[in-house]
Amino acid sequence: MAQIAKPIKPKSKPVLSHSVSFTDGATDGACPQEFEVFKGTLGPNVIDVGKLYAKTGYFTYDPGFMATASCKSKITYVDGEKGILLYRGYPIDELAQHSDFVEVCYLLLNGELPNRKQKKKFDYDVTMHTMVHEQLTFLFRGFRRDAHPMAMMVGVVGAMSAFYHDALDITDPHHRMISSFRLIAKIPTIGAMAYKFSIGQPFVYPRNDLNYAENFLHMMFAVPCEEYRVNPVLAHALDLIFILHADHEQNASTSTVRLAGSSGANPYACIAAGIASLWGPAHGGANEAVINMLSEIGTVKRIPEFIARAKDKDDPFRLMGFGHRVYKYHDPRARVLRKTCHEVLDDLGVKNEPLLKIAMELERIALDDEYFVRRRLYPNVDFYSGIILRAIGIPPHLFTVIFAVARTVGWVAQWNEMIEDPTQKIGRPRQLYTGYGPRPYVPLDQRGKHDGGTRQ
Ligand code: CMC
Repeated sequence: MAQIAKPIKPKSKPVLSHSVSFTDGATDGACPQEFEVFKGTLGPNVIDVGKLYAKTGYFTYDPGFMATASCKSKITYVDGEKGILLYRGYPIDELAQHSDFVEVCYLLLNGELPNRKQKKKFDYDVTMHTMVHEQLTFLFRGFRRDAHPMAMMVGVVGAMSAFYHDALDITDPHHRMISSFRLIAKIPTIGAMAYKFSIGQPFVYPRNDLNYAENFLHMMFAVPCEEYRVNPVLAHALDLIFILHADHEQNASTSTVRLAGSSGANPYACIAAGIASLWGPAHGGANEAVINMLSEIGTVKRIPEFIARAKDKDDPFRLMGFGHRVYKYHDPRARVLRKTCHEVLDDLGVKNEPLLKIAMELERIALDDEYFVRRRLYPNVDFYSGIILRAIGIPPHLFTVIFAVARTVGWVAQWNEMIEDPTQKIGRPRQLYTGYGPRPYVPLDQRGKHDGGTRQ
């Protein structure tokens, strides 16, 4: 990570940089329209197209938001070309080295690192909210034991609005703060309950003498009949995974939370929407895909066969856990986790476990292979988090739940920022309509067999 010579302060308003003109080809450039260009603290400038339709009668077309800034934000910055990730200006590797997850939560929510007194109070407040309403525990019984834990997460987190409706006025900052604490503190409890329910074990209540990651491991793996001792190496690795996944600017699930929240929906409904979006394999499911791929490879001897398949343009197979849409340099989160991954495997003495041996050999070959080097396909965060989570003993179908636990603070911070933004409006994208033009209704007895009556 490059040293940051002089801190750049956040901007209270976007700064007008210059303007660009837009000319409609059809009018031969007769009436160009000017559009303002805003400059953020870092990153590309943005053209303000808010008045484009009013001025020109045009919409913009940008499926997948490849070149569209959907909001302004002071929370997280990603530079994929340089491999930089900043939370409130602090480089992710420095936070991973010196901070802990609950302190990172404070930072993301409040914009600054806490002083000693603030940190103590924040830790206490999170810890004191970890238990869930006892009635909520009965909700789980309505699910099948083999339900996907993310299905339970979507349902139970959405249902929190029915349990904590004493603080649902989103215009009241105090209510928002209470809901934020409840979400961040209770999400690990709910995630662990989803796991316990799926394996038929009793729920384990949180323990206030443990830190966030230790408590999660305790709720996941303790049973009433024997003492469970949290392994500090595993707790530290999990805390790092939480830090590294806490926010990643306007990704699909965060944008979902913002869009749901833009209508004034309550925070639990918005976070449930974020969890639903995260569930998709193109977003939160990649580390599970890494483990499935390693199982499919099965033995170190078969690695060359799979590398060859990954390079073969006629084969849809890709090496899971390699490459990134934004990071075209090392994923800074992967750099941190790689080291931790080796520490965890050493501590557990499982370096010779077949799946992990395949992973390490695959990493070695791919980092050396001209195909991957030339395309800048480095192992991404999911490659290492999948291996670590598996070594910790977390089953692959629960990996996305871990991601949801970590990302809840990012969603909550982004939701709060949106509500506090005086220029915030309900999100309402436009479209390029490609369907029928107006046509007369066709009575049932005049419709063809297969075409709904469009042809006579
Ligand atoms: N294995 C083999 N070849 C690959 C891979 C891969 N994992 N990823 C990209 N390529 C090749 C691709 O075939 C293309 O080759 P060519 O130039 O010869 O046509 C070139 O690299 C560029 O690929 P692309 O699809 O244009 O790159 P992208 O930025 O659109 O895709 C990606 C990014 C993450 C979807 C892709 O790298 C991929 O499918 N990786 C595997 C899945 C994975 O690990 N996903 C997790 C990403 S991290 C999630 C997070 O941050 O939350």
